[in-house]
Amino acid sequence: MRREAKRYTITAALPYANGPIHIGQLAGAYLPSDIYARYRKMRGDDAVFICGSDEHGVAITLRAMKEGKTPQEVVDYYHKLNKESFERFGIDFDIFHRTSDPLHHELAQEFFLRLYEEGKFIEKSSEQFYDEEYGLFLADRYIIGTCPRCGYERAYGDQCEKCGSSLSPEELINPVSALSGKPPRLKKTTHWYLPMNEYEGWLRKWILEEHKDDWKKNVLGQVKSWLDQGLQPRAMTRDLDWGVKVPLPQADGKVLYVWLDAPIGYISATKAWAMENGKDWKAYWQDEDTHLIHFIGKDNIVFHCIIFPIILKAHGGYILPDNVPANEFMNMEGEKISTSRNWAVWLHEYLDEFPGKEDVLRYVLTANMPESKDSEFTWKDFQEKNNSMLVGILGNFVNRVLVLHQKYFNGVVQPIDMEARSEGGRIRGLDLDWGPEGFARKISLELESFKFRDALASLMDVARAGNKFLTDEEPWKKIKEKPGEVGEILHIALQVIANLAIAMAPVMPFSARKLAAMIRLPEEDLRWKNLGRYDLLPAGHQLGRAELLFEKIEDAVVEAQIAKLMATKEDGKLETANFPPVREEISYDEFMKPDIRVGTILQAEKMKNADKLLKLTVDIGVETRTIVSGIAGHFDPADLPGRQVCVVANLAPRKLRGEVSKGMILMAEDEEGRLSFVAPAENFPNGAIIR
Ligand code: MF3
Ligand code: ZN
Repeated sequence: MRREAKRYTITAALPYANGPIHIGQLAGAYLPSDIYARYRKMRGDDAVFICGSDEHGVAITLRAMKEGKTPQEVVDYYHKLNKESFERFGIDFDIFHRTSDPLHHELAQEFFLRLYEEGKFIEKSSEQFYDEEYGLFLADRYIIGTCPRCGYERAYGDQCEKCGSSLSPEELINPVSALSGKPPRLKKTTHWYLPMNEYEGWLRKWILEEHKDDWKKNVLGQVKSWLDQGLQPRAMTRDLDWGVKVPLPQADGKVLYVWLDAPIGYISATKAWAMENGKDWKAYWQDEDTHLIHFIGKDNIVFHCIIFPIILKAHGGYILPDNVPANEFMNMEGEKISTSRNWAVWLHEYLDEFPGKEDVLRYVLTANMPESKDSEFTWKDFQEKNNSMLVGILGNFVNRVLVLHQKYFNGVVQPIDMEARSEGGRIRGLDLDWGPEGFARKISLELESFKFRDALASLMDVARAGNKFLTDEEPWKKIKEKPGEVGEILHIALQVIANLAIAMAPVMPFSARKLAAMIRLPEEDLRWKNLGRYDLLPAGHQLGRAELLFEKIEDAVVEAQIAKLMATKEDGKLETANFPPVREEISYDEFMKPDIRVGTILQAEKMKNADKLLKLTVDIGVETRTIVSGIAGHFDPADLPGRQVCVVANLAPRKLRGEVSKGMILMAEDEEGRLSFVAPAENFPNGAIIR
């Protein structure tokens, strides 16, 4: 029989170093993994908690192009920002490594070579879309064209966002590159494919049978649907110049597929950590007694449950994940969190704007963790949970006990006859089970089965029980006549508080430490094995100074956050509109051809028999013109006289509804067809030249 393993390799998805961390990622992967790793360490297990930046992939090269930077500059910036943000938020990785590190490149290449040499790949040539101007093969997402199903003109090579069909790039009508805006051409290229189809039977047995009872339903469901659709060979190399170079002489200009290289990053990070800490990395990846647990969001399930395990299996010698407790998504204020639309709460901004309130966010995200279905973050709920749960229940209980204790007994723990006060594993009047099946075990089991919401609720139940005990016993009424009994009541309440300090440490480590200091519970007693004990603070123990654990959050604070979001929403609308790509290049001479002048509208009137047209009289400095313009649906003629405009003055005259129009008024048009005049930023002489 397999002995109960005490070694844990805990990983959290390596975030792409192309943007800051947001609350959705925290709730999905980083908080649950941190809670779990802290719990394991508090139990005394040999647990290592691994993460780092995922620094390769097209997303990063594109971001760099957009910002006019090198990919290295982009990843350096976000690696540092994210590493620091995680630290400040108490996400306690043993190492936050990075996949641009040479150690990682070496290991990833070693992996590839081994698979290559053992004949685990299929070599295959095919034609793929290539952007001539950028000199790049295009990922499916970067090809845009008309959807063959619904006719939407801005469908992507992998999906039409209008009708939802999933597409492949060859299906698009009139495809253009999202980079250059020009039609891509097909170009032949060779890649190495992992024949994933050959592993289907093995995966089915390993996951759908052997883990059918201990893996989460959402994870099993996705795995089953992938397997039922049938796995396809997947290319493990790409034509790109940013990434881990394919270590073969015939593969110049090719790098490893980012989803081959990134998960190997878990292993190289463990190696780097082991080297720095005098450990043996192999124990954490190759010893059958080690539990490997991957914390991820649901968009990563296929990579961690199918592709990476196949890679590990094909390589041989590595353990497979024991569990992959993937979370669903967290939405925010009724919408999907979106990095590109800037619809998110960014961790580094939160940390700056809410100093000392790390645990409030940790609490709220844990209470709303999308464990089995999508969940929702709202600022109102954030405020409400802080004020009613953290301040109202937890903070209030702790504060009442410590203040009374200080007042009545100068902060010295009073004696108690525990025997006389308890019966059947319970202390009379206190609704808590201290026995082997009691609250300590309940919370442990919840954490071990990745039910962090439940664990947090159970923790709050302990605080609630303490509060109720205090309210029922009314020590403030008894202090005159029965100081001895009040001493006992507070003694009991203090033991509850010591237990709270332990139980809250995985979720709220900052407050746990603060609370431990307030009751002078030595750090080394903040261990899981002490949970469920009611002798942690013995009679005669001197408590420390009471401070507030949590503070109320006022309306104005959350209203400011909501206003900030609404402002992004307005910006986002303008920024993300789907305008067509830039048209073909013109020469300088061609640009100089139109003669554009500043003018002022003198008169404006509706044209008969033409509800779209206005007849304008415009002073363009050098002369006064009649211009017919198709803007009647957008403006009231009465508002126009006096307005400055820009006029293309040398456009050939045209006859419109019997009226000769000499020139054209410049207008900006948005996606919805709204119009806006283009004019100098301040009032300017008519006739001034624009170029
Ligand atoms: N960078 C990926 C994402 O953010 C996650 C990579 S996880 C790893 O979705 F396993 F590949 F490292
Ligand atoms: Zn469509």
